[in-house]
Amino acid sequence: MKQYSTSPDGEKFQLPEPEEYAREFERLKNMVHDQRDKGREIVVVMGVGFVGAVMAAVVADSEGKNGNPLKFVIGMQRPSTRSYWKIPLLNRGLPPVQAEDPEVAPMIHRCVNEKKTLTATFTYDALKLADVVVVDVQCDYLKESLGDVKNGQADMDALEISLGIIAEHITPDALVLIETTVAPGTTEQVAYPIMRKVFRKRGIESDPLLAHSFERVMPGRHYVASIRDFWRVCSGTNPEATRKVVKFLEEVINTDEYPLSVLNRPIESETAKIVENSFRATILAFLDEWSLFAERNGVDLIKVLEAIKVRPTHSNIIFPGPGIGGYCLPKDGGLGIWAYRHIHGFEDDIFKVTPLAININDTRSLHVAQLTRDALRNMSRPLAAAEILLLGASYREDVGDTRYSGSELIVRRLTEMGAELRVHDPYVQHWWEFEKQDEYPSPTHSLKRFFRNQDKLGDLHIEQDLSQALHGTDAVIFAVRHKHYLDLDPDKVVETAGSPLAVIDCFGILDDTKIKRYFELDCEVKGLGRGHVKRIKDQVRAEREEMLLALSAEHQADRT
Ligand SMILES: NC(=O)c1ccc[n+]([C@@H]2O[C@H](COP(=O)([O-])OP(=O)(O)OC[C@H]3O[C@@H](n4cnc5c(N)ncnc54)[C@H](O)[C@@H]3O)[C@@H](O)[C@H]2O)c1
Repeated sequence: MKQYSTSPDGEKFQLPEPEEYAREFERLKNMVHDQRDKGREIVVVMGVGFVGAVMAAVVADSEGKNGNPLKFVIGMQRPSTRSYWKIPLLNRGLPPVQAEDPEVAPMIHRCVNEKKTLTATFTYDALKLADVVVVDVQCDYLKESLGDVKNGQADMDALEISLGIIAEHITPDALVLIETTVAPGTTEQVAYPIMRKVFRKRGIESDPLLAHSFERVMPGRHYVASIRDFWRVCSGTNPEATRKVVKFLEEVINTDEYPLSVLNRPIESETAKIVENSFRATILAFLDEWSLFAERNGVDLIKVLEAIKVRPTHSNIIFPGPGIGGYCLPKDGGLGIWAYRHIHGFEDDIFKVTPLAININDTRSLHVAQLTRDALRNMSRPLAAAEILLLGASYREDVGDTRYSGSELIVRRLTEMGAELRVHDPYVQHWWEFEKQDEYPSPTHSLKRFFRNQDKLGDLHIEQDLSQALHGTDAVIFAVRHKHYLDLDPDKVVETAGSPLAVIDCFGILDDTKIKRYFELDCEVKGLGRGHVKRIKDQVRAEREEMLLALSAEHQADRT
């Protein structure tokens, strides 16, 4: 039976039939032959997802001192129904990822259609042609409960399968560069043995040349620069692998301005990634308790942080917003904790801070539902009968990436409590975590399973028209600092909604003037870490009473 893969825009692509593989390999061999004549190295990027697609383009776009391209890149993607569409799209010169960075689309177009240094394929035979293989497949950490990261496991399947396939196909002197964020120890204790065994079976006596260098890519307006113009850490399993990885990175990345950190062993590079992200997760989680303290004691945490930030030693203190999402921060610490027991064999429990931080971050957004409930209650409106508009579905401002966003949990908890949800996000067309909640991110691991009454959320569609979304709503939740929300005028919001509404600020989006104006318009305002709103509310009430007194005094004076 014919199988199809459908792109996010709805275009259907038939998966290749068995007889197409040989033809496809011929196509690649011919291209590679021409490219080798031009003196170019062949780089296969395995996995053209968020990271691999842009990394492939960065490598394909790189040039030597004379301005000539040094590399020919083959983006390789397994032809699954879920992901195959990325290949034909790339081969048209279109990005398979949604990117707010204006550099991404022209770069991919340029490399595919003009420089002709980039192509994409579904056949693993491409690996036979590689001088360098860059591994950008996913390595997930699957959590079994909400708010308990230790109850989970690394999902190494895609990575282990990929490494076996690579070892079966590559030439012995090809460099395999793992960019995937992995459980520390993976390159030496998982990848190396897998590849060595396959090499021995193939009669290859030499050791595989393996290296690790993690990605620090940031989705958003600086997507490309965060790969090309940024510092890298790397390490190889032996001196030859280290020499090759340093040479490769120096040729494709701007290491003149952003020098490489070359570490002694891959486990050090792998640990660097996990510690880096656990550090960030921890400083974010740390403010959760102070956010509650602020709410309960009349303190505006946003102003407190601004006051602290002026100290150069504390300039990276960050307000956490409604939960910490993105693909990396919620999982990376989990990979480290898992590795300690399952790769290195330790039984004791040395990890205290890292799991606590992730658990706090994973559940922080549930508090937004409580604030919404309380604000509506103050307006004598029951949450279960309320229409609520959530502004922002993505995990951070001005990007369309919804992976593990705090907003997902807000929608799930409020739905469980009976509210009707609408969502607006100018960067997100499809919120797959809901639209495909029975299969995304995997059939068994939707966050749906931690909440009741979630079935109707399969029909949740993102509104693109803000006015339409606001119309008739009882509450609006400012969840993400998208630029579209920063200057919304309270008078306009209330007028469009049709009546006063509850306003929940999750990210310090409202300044005091706006908060005051919402109260003057008979709205109720609450916010994460924003205890001072009560003071503003009292001030508005006092001013109103004063005005009424003045009016009644005037009235009295008129009568006498
Ligand atoms: N997305 C980010 O912001 C980011 C930032 C830094 C690091 N990382 C790390 O980079 C790695 C990749 O992340 P991503 O966001 O690109 O993931 P992704 O899920 O978008 O992409 C992975 C791709 O690999 C493909 N794949 C899986 N098995 C394959 C196989 N056997 N052969 C060929 N292709 C295969 C998948 O189909 C998918 O297209 C992860 O380890 C992640 O933690 C991601």
